[in-house]
Amino acid sequence: MSPRKLVIAIDGPAASGKSTTARLVAEELGYVHVDTGAMYRAVTLKVLRAGIDPADRAGIGRLLETTHVALRREGPETRVLLDGEDVTAPIRTPDVTRAVSMVSSHRSVRQAMVREQRRMGSEGGIVLEGRDIGTVVFPDADLKFFMVAGIEARARRRGEELRSRGITPDLKSLAEEIGERDRLDSTRKESPLRKAGDAIEIDTSEMTIEEQVRAVLDRVKSAAEGRT
Ligand code: CDP
Ligand code: CDP
Repeated sequence: MSPRKLVIAIDGPAASGKSTTARLVAEELGYVHVDTGAMYRAVTLKVLRAGIDPADRAGIGRLLETTHVALRREGPETRVLLDGEDVTAPIRTPDVTRAVSMVSSHRSVRQAMVREQRRMGSEGGIVLEGRDIGTVVFPDADLKFFMVAGIEARARRRGEELRSRGITPDLKSLAEEIGERDRLDSTRKESPLRKAGDAIEIDTSEMTIEEQVRAVLDRVKSAAEGRT
C-alpha cells in the first residue's frame, strides 16, 4: 500500500527558511508546494496598483470580489498569477513588502485566501507554508513545523537575496523592517502568527538548508510509516 499523502504545515516569521525548506521537501516527496505568503503579496500588489489604502477595509473587500490569485507549477518553479497575469517578480518589491502585513490583517482577505488554500490541500500531498497554516488553515495537518531564527541571521539572509538581485541592502534597516513585520503579524486580531501547540519548532539560525530539509523529512518519514 502506498503511503497516505500528508498535509504538512510550515509556519514562522520572515526569512526563517520556510519557503526554501517547503520547496525542497515538496520536491523530494513529489508533493505540491504552496507559498501562501505569495498569495497575500499578490493581493497587496493589486491593492497598491488600484491606489487603495492598505488600511481601507471596505475598499479592499470590494476589490476582492473581482480578484483571482492562483499558483501555477512550471518545472521546478511556481509562478504566481493575479487575474491571469504572471506577477511572480513584482510581488517581491519593497513597496509590496511594506504594505503586505496591513493588507493581510483584513478578515475578508484572509477568508478568501484560506478558502483557496483549503481547496488546494483537500486531497493531501501538500506542503503549505505561511503564518497561520497549522493554527487556522489546516489545524488537523498531519505534521506541523514552526521555524524560527535570530533577527541577525534573518536580516543577513534577506540581505544576500537582495545583493543577488543587484540591490545593496542596509542591514540595519532590513532588520528593523523584518522586526516590524514580525510585530504586526504576531499582534493582529485575525489569525496572528503563532506556534500551534502541536508544532515542532526548528531554530534554523545555525543550520544549513540541507539540515533544515533533513529535519523535516525525518519527521515526515516517521509519520508516514506510522500511518500507512
Ligand atoms: O517571504 P517573507 O517571509 O518575506 O514573507 P511571506 O511569506 O512572503 O509573507 C508576506 C506577508 O504575508 C507576511 O508578512 C504576512 O503579513 C502575510 N502572510 C499571512 O498573513 N499569512 C500567511 N499564511 C502568509 C503570509
Ligand atoms: O520563507 P521564509 O521567508 O521563511 O524564508 P526563505 O525565503 O526560505 O529563506 C530566506 C533566505 O535564507 C533564502 O535566501 C534562503 O536561501 C536563506 N537561507 C535559509 O533559508 N536557511 C539557511 N540555513 C541559510 C540561508
